[in-house]
Amino acid sequence: MSLESLRVLGEQFDQDKLSITEPADLEEVRIRYLSRKSGRLTQALQALTRLPKEDRREFGRLGNILKQRMESELAELEASLGSVAQARRLEAEALDVTLPGFRTSLGHRHPLTLVREDMERIFIAMGYSVEDGPEVETPYYNFEALNIPEGHPARNASDTFYIGGELLLRTHTSPVQVRTMERQSPPVRIVCPGRVFRRDDLDATHSPMFHQFEGLVVDEGVTFGDLKGTLELFHREFFGEGTRTRFRPSYFPFTEPSAEVDISCIFCHQKGCRVCKQTGWIELGGSGMVNPALYGFVGYDPERYSGFAFGGGIDRYAMVKYQINDIPMLFQNDFRFLEQF
Ligand code: PHE
Repeated sequence: MSLESLRVLGEQFDQDKLSITEPADLEEVRIRYLSRKSGRLTQALQALTRLPKEDRREFGRLGNILKQRMESELAELEASLGSVAQARRLEAEALDVTLPGFRTSLGHRHPLTLVREDMERIFIAMGYSVEDGPEVETPYYNFEALNIPEGHPARNASDTFYIGGELLLRTHTSPVQVRTMERQSPPVRIVCPGRVFRRDDLDATHSPMFHQFEGLVVDEGVTFGDLKGTLELFHREFFGEGTRTRFRPSYFPFTEPSAEVDISCIFCHQKGCRVCKQTGWIELGGSGMVNPALYGFVGYDPERYSGFAFGGGIDRYAMVKYQINDIPMLFQNDFRFLEQF
């Protein structure tokens, strides 16, 4: 071991330093020269005891200078490598805050929901409350108490889904009329939206499941004029100010007199178009004065009370309002359709 070998070590260190480009290289060089056991400079300094006495002082002094130089140069290099690494990381992680964001869809309300909520809103504002009733019914509520006796064609098994002998899927929302009157005495003022079922095959204009909303008002002195005024107001609110409502004589066992309810075509303003089949009118539901026969089933005094009822197809209102010409669209959950609402 000699002073010359210290000089060579210093030169080799300077050489090795040049190859350091990242923290791992730096660690390797540090270990190579300065590791506490096997570092080349460490070992050289340990060999000091084997030198002739007169050389030890100078060797020790120069050895320590070299050690300090290595340590401080490596520390400096480490610091600059750190800032290079940080700069590189910052660049890689850079966010362009001016880029447009990813839009997350919040979903859309189904057109049937929109229509139902609109109907409820309008009737609630007129003092009605919203009722609910079972979809699985007994023949009593669906037919009997609505003045549709056994043997009536409306009870036909080819139109109604019977469940065993005792139950059926309600064919209209009218049973809720009976259930409400059973539960509460006049004045009654309710609407009831809900699903109904009929044995139809699914096609553009039919569905075995669809939606109706029922209305029922019973009080002293209720007249057909009240029924007309109520539906006229409702239709103007729902379809727009210029909408006219027409009542056509009809027949339902549970109303007397009865009327079909039409609105003036909102597409052609009664000039005649495809939607109204050139008639200027679109049929939306049924209505009438509550048949006093029903009061017998629920214990109302027919001398004292009178009332009106109406029932409309929610699906039909939706199809007219949003110009949907295919019922299955309402039930297929196609995003391209649903996203339009
Ligand atoms: N329930 C009848 C139907 O489904 C509609 C209706 C309701 C008619 C109330 C008159 C009164 O066709």
